[in-house]
Amino acid sequence: MAHDKIKKHRFHGRRKGKTLTAHRKAVLADMLPRYRCIIDDLSFNQETWLEIGFGNGEFLSHMCQNNSDIQFIGCEPFVNGVAALLASLKSSVDNLKIWNDDARILIDEMPDRCVDRIYLLNPDPWPKTRHAKRRFIQTDTLDDLARLLKPGGQFIMSTDVKDLANWMHVHTFNHSAFEWTATSQADWLSPPDDWPLEKTRYMKKALGGETIYWLKFRRK
Ligand SMILES: C[S@@+](CC[C@H](N)C(=O)[O-])C[C@H]1O[C@@H](n2cnc3c(N)ncnc32)[C@H](O)[C@@H]1O
Repeated sequence: MAHDKIKKHRFHGRRKGKTLTAHRKAVLADMLPRYRCIIDDLSFNQETWLEIGFGNGEFLSHMCQNNSDIQFIGCEPFVNGVAALLASLKSSVDNLKIWNDDARILIDEMPDRCVDRIYLLNPDPWPKTRHAKRRFIQTDTLDDLARLLKPGGQFIMSTDVKDLANWMHVHTFNHSAFEWTATSQADWLSPPDDWPLEKTRYMKKALGGETIYWLKFRRK
């Protein structure tokens, strides 16, 4: 365990959605054992990118199938999303690990400076003030992400919800381990240079409007 203090995490999202079709159930049963992330088996002797809350996995699926030299670890407690990701793989890959639970449980177990990039795309906005503590970005989760990232590593976030964009920006900007990489006022309207997709399914049905805000930070 990377920390000496055991933390408790309360997960407020959904773990299951609509009943899975027989095909998706079979996909999970056949494929998840191969891709499941087992903490004790993890090794970090290659470039590693972590995605927190991959949803249906469009981004992760594209990335792991097109970057065979990078190890991808995807975290998603929602089992229907895990099944969707697995079903989208055109053939088997050797560079994908799936953590089907709260990302924070895995993060607590990961060693310092093991990850080159972290993606947090469209996290749940929890718009009510009394629910703001449920947002993924908090000072203590930023401490944990800072611990995982190698110096110079990238931390990329997006959201279509302006209040959440502000929240994520203020918290990360004020955190001493991160620097905002923006070079222009309009930076937060552009995806990273190597962003490969038009939009994820979530981005297409974005509730907050057409604009996707991008927040691109670097670990100091
Ligand atoms: C609004 S969806 C966005 C999904 C995807 N990133 C996209 O852009 O299409 C947010 C996702 O984060 C997941 N999530 C929420 N809290 C999480 C946590 N603590 N660890 C891992 N995933 C989490 C949810 O289950 C959900 O699938």
